[in-house]
Order: sequence, then C-alpha cells, then structure tokens
Amino acid sequence: MLMGKGGVGKTTIAAAVAVELASRGYPVHLTTSDPAAHLAETLKGSLENLTVSRIEPHAETERYRQHVMETKGKDLDAQGKALLEEDLRSPCTEEIAVFQAFSRIIREAGKKFVVMDTAPTGHTLLLLDATGAYHRETARQLGPSGISFTTPMMQLQDSKKTKILIVTLAENTPVLEAAGLQSDLRRADIEPWAWIINNSLAIANPTSALMRQRASNELAQIDAVTKQHAKRWAVVPLQAQEPIGVERLQKLARHSAS
Ligand SMILES: Nc1ncnc2c1ncn2[C@@H]1O[C@H](COP(=O)(O)OP(=O)(O)O)[C@@H](O)[C@H]1O
Ligand SMILES: [Mg+2]
Repeated sequence: MLMGKGGVGKTTIAAAVAVELASRGYPVHLTTSDPAAHLAETLKGSLENLTVSRIEPHAETERYRQHVMETKGKDLDAQGKALLEEDLRSPCTEEIAVFQAFSRIIREAGKKFVVMDTAPTGHTLLLLDATGAYHRETARQLGPSGISFTTPMMQLQDSKKTKILIVTLAENTPVLEAAGLQSDLRRADIEPWAWIINNSLAIANPTSALMRQRASNELAQIDAVTKQHAKRWAVVPLQAQEPIGVERLQKLARHSAS
C-alpha cells in the first residue's frame, strides 16, 4: 500500500512497483482507493499478469444497496422496505461499501500481489478507522466463542502480508506530514515498511547552479527521513520526462535514468 499526501507520487510509485512485479512474472492486481486517481493514464498500457481496477465509491455504494435490499429487504413489507431504503441513503452507506470493496481486494493478497494506491492521507485514515471498527466488532462477537477469525485490520498489521510504503517529498512540510501519518498508523498497530522520498533533485545530479542549490536544500530532509523516521527507505530521482507508460515506470523502478 502506497500512502501519503496528495501529489507526492503515490499513483506513480504504485504503478511502477506493479509493473516491475508483473514483468518478473508474478500475478499482480494494481488498484486504487483514491476516487481521483488516474491509474490508466499513468500506466498507459497493459502487461501480462497485471490486472488494474479501482474502488469507485458510487458503484460500490449502489452494489451494496442492492445487496442489502435483496437480502435484508427481501421479506419486508412495503413500509419496511421504504425504511430500509431510507437508512441506506445515509452517508455511512458509502463508507461501509468502500470498506467492503477494500476488504474484498485485501483478501486477494493471499493469491497474488495486490498493489494499492490510496487516497490522500485523511481519506485513508478514515478507511482505516472503519477497518478498526469492523475488527473490534468482529472480535467482540466472535472472540468469546473461540472461533478463529482474520479481519482486514489483522492483515494490515501483519508485516508478512502487508507492506506500507510512505511516499513523501524531500521538503519540510511533507516530511512532517508523513511522520504524522506514520504515528497514526502506529497507533493502529500498523508499522510502515519503508519510506520513499520521491521527486528528489539531490539524487538526480543536476548540473545547473539553481538546481544544485535546490538539491542541497533537500539534504536536511533526506537526513531526517533516513535517520529519524524510516526503517527502510529509497530515494527516487525527479525524472526529466513525466514517468507515465510501462517503459518509463519500469525504468523508474529499476533505478535507471529516463
Ligand atoms: N519521480 C518523478 N519524476 C517526475 N515526475 C513525477 C515523479 N513522480 C511523480 N511524478 C509526476 O507528479 C505528478 C503527481 O504524481 P502522482 O503519482 O499522481 O501523485 P499522487 O498519486 O501522490 O497524487 C504526476 O504528474 C506524476 O507523473
Ligand atoms: Mg494518486
């Protein structure tokens, strides 16, 4: 899972990771929980072994509504149906529907690599809240019975199953925000696996004086990430050409110049 604030490169890095894994022959599902993401534009193509999807809140909500009406609503009289329909118009419905789609995709990770591009931090934390609430409710209901269960939250907390990559820029505010995200994740017992410092000029070896000045301004932030915040890290250079399309994404993942 790629996490971080808007515009730092989550979608790009997610696509690059997915392309690299797929080209090594692994089955990969690249997906996004960000309604604003543009995986298709970033990928601009297809690869064997790679499937691409998105969690689309409206479609998921509609699917969930229909499912509830066909199951819970099936035996209700007209008035009961009307009440249920009204219940389903509440904003919580979308939250539940998106969570269900998220859970469905997480379950696939037993069979293939699932690379998930997430929405900017705030939205993702809301999704994690829903994930935590579902876990507590499941534990409350099943815990005393001794039945064993695995919730999506338990999968996110299991570092063998889930690797969270925090994406940031080598700038003060983005690094502070990323550190805040890491603390929020840790409060939910989720330990980020690595940090990615994207769009770095320092590692791009620029020649112009202005760019070199900007590159040297990054060093303090890179230092903070690598020494204080991250257990593992990678620095991705600012590319001369926008990293879209399978070929450029693969170059980005393989560390070669574009
Ligand atoms: N290393 C990079 N070098 C150059 N451009 C980049 C790099 N990473 C991302 N971009 C560009 O920056 C913009 C934002 O990236 P994106 O992956 O959409 O961010 P996010 O998903 O976090 O909002 C896109 O236009 C993308 O092509
Ligand atoms: Mg994005």
